[in-house]
Amino acid sequence: MSVKIAPSILSADFAELGTGVEAIATADYVHFDVMDGCFVPNISIGIPVLQSIRKRTALPIDVHLMIVQPERYVDQFCDAGADLVTCHVEADTPEKIHLALDKIHAKGKKAGVVLKPNTRAEAVLPFLDKCDIVLVMTVEPGFGGQKFMADMMPKVSAIRRYIDERNLDCELEVDGGVDAVTCKTCIEAGANVLVAGSAVYKAANIPAKIKELRG
Ligand code: DX5
Ligand code: ZN
Repeated sequence: MSVKIAPSILSADFAELGTGVEAIATADYVHFDVMDGCFVPNISIGIPVLQSIRKRTALPIDVHLMIVQPERYVDQFCDAGADLVTCHVEADTPEKIHLALDKIHAKGKKAGVVLKPNTRAEAVLPFLDKCDIVLVMTVEPGFGGQKFMADMMPKVSAIRRYIDERNLDCELEVDGGVDAVTCKTCIEAGANVLVAGSAVYKAANIPAKIKELRG
């Protein structure tokens, strides 16, 4: 399976965001981190920024919603240009998370769930049949530049097994602390989409770094 790279623009210079998005044109997705100051202790970017970014890239935009009750906002993120929207399973009741996934699909977009580090692999099972992607956090969500949690790899492997056993068309993404070393660990564990913020945006040569992260 080919490895896809999703640079997180959270690590880009927000004053030069258009340039920052164009700099990752050789990647596979643009990873767009939305934080509400409630689900996570940080506030980032939202709908108007997504609309602006949409005009500057042909890449699919992967919107990672770190917000409480994401079902309230998924339609607006789809309309603003998201191609793929992921919601944390911890962010609402299972019924509301199902509703969020259904709303994203009704907009013709891809949908998925995200697990925080303390959430067990089994938590994806009620949603797996309707997921186009599952995202496993390899740091506590909220900030770029944190240390990779290698102890999340058994969870990645367990979810890879769930997907393969069921023969599902579902991607498996990891997010947090992915660099030129830890990318290999993630790929070995079964991830096929790697989010990388600081590793990409701190690189002197961004296209070369994106290539290196493919493992
Ligand atoms: C963290 C975000 C990540 C973050 C990754 O809450 O979801 O996408 O930007 O940044 P790095 O790659 O620097 O850990
Ligand atoms: Zn993210």
